[in-house]
Amino acid sequence: MNSIKESVVVVAGGTGGVGEGLVRVFLERGARVVVPYRSDAKRERLEQYCADVAEDRLHCVEAVLSDEASMERFHDTILSKYGRVDLGVACIGGWYYGYSLHRMPFVDWANVLENNLTTHFLTLRAIVSVMRANNHGTYVMVNGGAAEVIAPESGAVSIVAAAQKMMARVLAQEAHGTNVRVHSVIAYHPVQTRDRRGEVVEDWITPAELGAYIARLYESPGSDRIVHTVYSHTDVE
Ligand SMILES: NC(=O)c1ccc[n+]([C@@H]2O[C@H](COP(=O)([O-])OP(=O)(O)OC[C@H]3O[C@@H](n4cnc5c(N)ncnc54)[C@H](OP(=O)(O)O)[C@@H]3O)[C@@H](O)[C@H]2O)c1
Repeated sequence: MNSIKESVVVVAGGTGGVGEGLVRVFLERGARVVVPYRSDAKRERLEQYCADVAEDRLHCVEAVLSDEASMERFHDTILSKYGRVDLGVACIGGWYYGYSLHRMPFVDWANVLENNLTTHFLTLRAIVSVMRANNHGTYVMVNGGAAEVIAPESGAVSIVAAAQKMMARVLAQEAHGTNVRVHSVIAYHPVQTRDRRGEVVEDWITPAELGAYIARLYESPGSDRIVHTVYSHTDVE
């Protein structure tokens, strides 16, 4: 049984709509939380959102998830400052809407790959390498329902979401026989993020519920299940 209290947690994508809620939950539970960020405005927004629970345990580090050199520096910073990562969460990505694949501009395709796949690759290299060196840690990739279904004119997002799911399975396979655990948590429906403007369905989960679910995956590492698909409140209780 692990404890999230006083653990070292890295949340890549912690400045995002879902990620900020995860950061808050881990801080509330006493973790030290490291968040790579690329925009000062987003960093300040996160710091304000967590000000009442952070004490001095929120550490934002300037790092661009899609830049190789930047993520190598991020890896070195984690190693020199903490020496370990207990829980790593990749909550990264961007939605894309506009074209069927055969009409999609190449530049859009390249952006989707960069934001939704290259970021994950460089993040896992920075974090899982630390976990594997210490033979300890839980790595969680947050994913969405696009990994399972095709949204019209957003097919590229489904392609990379499905690839993210396979990335988690590959990581888990490569970590077989070690004390590193890997999970893909698929929030199938939209999440009730703070900045959601359109309709909100009561059944949709909140970022706080997702954070609590991920914290439990770390604290009770018995589960060998790699892919966890959650649909509503009852799945994350
Ligand atoms: N929102 C939902 O309703 C929902 C539902 C189910 C699943 N999910 C899943 O949750 C995850 C996060 O979604 P979200 O809604 O929180 O997205 P979001 O608000 O757009 O946040 C995405 C995060 O990824 C970062 N990011 C994206 N591309 C980057 C790049 N090239 N370089 C550096 N950072 C980059 C963003 O940084 P910046 O802050 O600097 O932009 C931000 O921190 C995704 O895997 C998504 O599938 C979301």
